[in-house]
Amino acid sequence: MKLPRSPGFDLSGKRALVTGASSGIGLGCAAALSEAGAHVVCAARRREALDEAVATMAEQGFSGEAATLDQTNLDDIRDVMQDPFDIVLNSAGLARHSKALETKAEDFDAVMNINLRSAYFLSTEAARGMMASGKGGSIIHISSQMGHVGGIERAVYCASKHGVEGMIKAMAIEWGKDRIRINTICPTFIRTALTASTFDDPDKHAWIMEKIKLDRVGEIEDIMGAAVFLASDASAMITGTSLKVDGGWTAE
Ligand SMILES: NC(=O)c1ccc[n+]([C@@H]2O[C@H](COP(=O)([O-])OP(=O)(O)OC[C@H]3O[C@@H](n4cnc5c(N)ncnc54)[C@H](OP(=O)(O)O)[C@@H]3O)[C@@H](O)[C@H]2O)c1
Repeated sequence: MKLPRSPGFDLSGKRALVTGASSGIGLGCAAALSEAGAHVVCAARRREALDEAVATMAEQGFSGEAATLDQTNLDDIRDVMQDPFDIVLNSAGLARHSKALETKAEDFDAVMNINLRSAYFLSTEAARGMMASGKGGSIIHISSQMGHVGGIERAVYCASKHGVEGMIKAMAIEWGKDRIRINTICPTFIRTALTASTFDDPDKHAWIMEKIKLDRVGEIEDIMGAAVFLASDASAMITGTSLKVDGGWTAE
């Protein structure tokens, strides 16, 4: 009997872009993809943090380089995309929480600009390169469980992440024939700079602990396996969907 062979999680020979790689989930995903064998271009605005990340990766024998990128600037996106990538993982994001009735237009615009507009044009530029290379590829957005449900004082954030969820479905339909897969990872609350103020609020902390069925908050490491899976051939038939890493938050 010939046993079927698992396609595996090896990313050797792949060129990956990770945005938001200067901290938090993006930094974790950059480390995960490079540990799996990819050469990772680590992008964000804070150059020093990126250089430190790349140097630390190199110490461990992982391959990477830094690229300065302000994702609100479409020229910056085009510059970083000059050579095609096999994998693009977008972890750049912003949260400015408020009650819906108190939301300022400038906060709405800032969150939408990064979380949705830049995700949109990063995707289209990534796909253009993947089409030109003829090899296809995998585009992964770090969306959120808040792309599937509502949350306290999160109307703007939820709007941006629900937008990403709709966007990737439509793009998956258009780009499947070019073997371009596009998916999201939807984390629950993970302790990072983005969530520090939420964790510091005792009421919000209690809300989080009540909703996460696995009885602990998420860690950056919880996202790393999902990133490698969606980047690799192990997920070759998966597109236009989301992988919820939410400890059961959205199960009820
Ligand atoms: N932490 C959570 O609980 C959680 C849960 C669900 C989803 N998420 C999502 O996960 C993603 C990463 O968040 P995080 O928790 O890791 O927060 P973080 O540590 O604050 O990381 C945010 C990243 O976005 C980058 N960024 C922000 N504005 C940018 C811009 N204009 N141009 C380029 N890069 C920009 C930042 O880099 P620079 O400042 O160096 O530019 C930073 O690397 C976000 O999309 C967030 O919505 C987080």
